[in-house]
Amino acid sequence: MTSIPQCLSVRTFVVVAPRAAWQRERMPSERYEDLFRTWGGEFVATCHDTATGAFMFICVHSTSRGPAAGGLRMKEYASPLDAMQDGMRLSSAMTLKMAICDAPLGGGKSVIAIPAGALPTLRKKILTRYAALLDSVHGAYYAAPDMNTGPADMDFIYEQTPYVFCRSAERGGSGSTTRHTALGVFHSILASAEHALGTRNISGRSVAVQGVGEVGAALVELLVQAGARVIVSDASAERVADVASRFGVAHAAPEQIASTPCDIYAPCAIGGVLNARSIPELRCAAIAGAANNQLETPEDDARLRERGIVYAPDFVASAGGVLHGVGIERWRWSEAQVDAAVARLGGILLDVFAAARSGGIGTHAAAERLARAKLGITEPS
Ligand code: PHE
Repeated sequence: MTSIPQCLSVRTFVVVAPRAAWQRERMPSERYEDLFRTWGGEFVATCHDTATGAFMFICVHSTSRGPAAGGLRMKEYASPLDAMQDGMRLSSAMTLKMAICDAPLGGGKSVIAIPAGALPTLRKKILTRYAALLDSVHGAYYAAPDMNTGPADMDFIYEQTPYVFCRSAERGGSGSTTRHTALGVFHSILASAEHALGTRNISGRSVAVQGVGEVGAALVELLVQAGARVIVSDASAERVADVASRFGVAHAAPEQIASTPCDIYAPCAIGGVLNARSIPELRCAAIAGAANNQLETPEDDARLRERGIVYAPDFVASAGGVLHGVGIERWRWSEAQVDAAVARLGGILLDVFAAARSGGIGTHAAAERLARAKLGITEPS
């Protein structure tokens, strides 16, 4: 009997090891070329801020529907190339997100690779340099809040350049996207429950929320109000303790949340959580969360389909933030109009699930098809 696992491990070695070695040995310049060749976006404005050591990338994926827009993310990365790669992938997803929302904008994202531990002391310095870089692309891209940035940062950038969404309400902006992003995920959860469980009533149903930062915590509140049984996790024990006590919900260890038996799994933290390693371990009927780029590779879409797990594509589930910023600032919508548009994300998802089922394809592929049709990109037959 033991010969089976051994045989598997030999196979794994043969198939995986050469690729890993190839990636390790690859010259950074070749990887740089590869990133641009495979991305398919328009341009990346780059700078290294000598004063702070930060590397900055404004990735403009598409301006075909209008100027690009998307969040500004500040993070510590293993290398500047990793940061650029993250920005590129996130910017492609923004193009799809904008199209799904029918927003007159293209997709972009900016990423600032922060030197270790620098954020608390160097934030203003870094943002000053970033604002100059943003200004230099003359409105081809608009920044918005994202991981580690918020309306106060947009106010600060706006002092130097007008190309931002979601300044604070006091400064004439639409303010934080948190509530509408969480509401969009909530409606996505209801639609996923309808498709996977045959009911939109989530009272008594279990939802595992991975990551209780601002959006995750706001989502927990909505779920608890709807009577769901919520289990939370977060890399920060402090945040978990706070949310667990505020809303009276259970918690799990960060490494266990994805495999926790539940009706719905809601990834609301880092990307890449749905992959060849995690998908076999999942114990949920459906997935809907706020995290960007949840699939590690395009193949993970088919892996989820094979397991019969209903996946709400991330660029639809997390589109509430865009509807907030664009709705209020461009379309002059009221809160109620934004709420109604965010609720319609659930209907879009039901269409996506139906198209995936009838087309025999993954839900991410089906949503991408819908977005690409809105972008006027015809599929090869
Ligand atoms: N940063 C959010 C996102 O990337 C929200 C947002 C983007 C809001 C663009 C307004 C405009 O989805």
